[in-house]
Amino acid sequence: MTTSPHPSSVASRSSAWNGTVVRSRFFDALSLLLPAGEQFLIDTLEAWRSSVEPQPEGELGSEIDRFIREELAHRRAHTRYNAALVDAAPLTQPIVERAGRITAELDGFSVPMKLALVVAFEQLTSVLAKEIEGHPFLLVDEGTRAARLWRWHAREELGHCHVAARVAYRAGLGRGLLTLALLLATGYLGTDLLRYTCSLCRCDIRAGASRRTMLVDTLRFASGALPSLMRMARHWFALLLSPAQGAH
Ligand SMILES: [Fe+2]
Ligand SMILES: [Fe+2]
Repeated sequence: MTTSPHPSSVASRSSAWNGTVVRSRFFDALSLLLPAGEQFLIDTLEAWRSSVEPQPEGELGSEIDRFIREELAHRRAHTRYNAALVDAAPLTQPIVERAGRITAELDGFSVPMKLALVVAFEQLTSVLAKEIEGHPFLLVDEGTRAARLWRWHAREELGHCHVAARVAYRAGLGRGLLTLALLLATGYLGTDLLRYTCSLCRCDIRAGASRRTMLVDTLRFASGALPSLMRMARHWFALLLSPAQGAH
């Protein structure tokens, strides 16, 4: 695990830290979902580990320990990031609070379904992380602390994304369940990301940003993101065809 770039100065950054306001709010919205989301990953893996006999040891045991350590560090870093977001834009407070309850609807699922969702969320995260690492459009690296935080997070996700798949293999999850979880997780993440990005942009407009500029920014970002979306869709389809990738 590498040390996180401390995001405490995010509060003093501009709302357009990532090139434009809309592109920045896309990442800010993702950050809002992460503390609850990463706690869900940790709780699910810990619940599974304490319920199996024999307990996973050796390489898998240490990989699970590392996975949990890294997700805890991400959770802490994004909690600070989100607090700094509220300091810089107080109107976002209720949105941040709402995002903190984002995983409540997953509580009723069985342990195998939750494990399959962990695999799916990790796969979706790795699709985005690959795009961030390989192409400069989504995350414009201008050397800001927020950008460094995202790059650090993306690299750690790529380093541990196979762990959940290995756990799913050990737990004997079937292909049908993994496919269903990938479809569900894509629906959850896609809708929430869109919803929270729009909510943050509406806060910017209420705080005085020009509606016209935001609209132009949105259209530019959406059209410029098409190649990124196509690449990510290709990776996503590969996962759909082989949902247990990385398990062996
Ligand atoms: Fe993470
Ligand atoms: Fe992860």
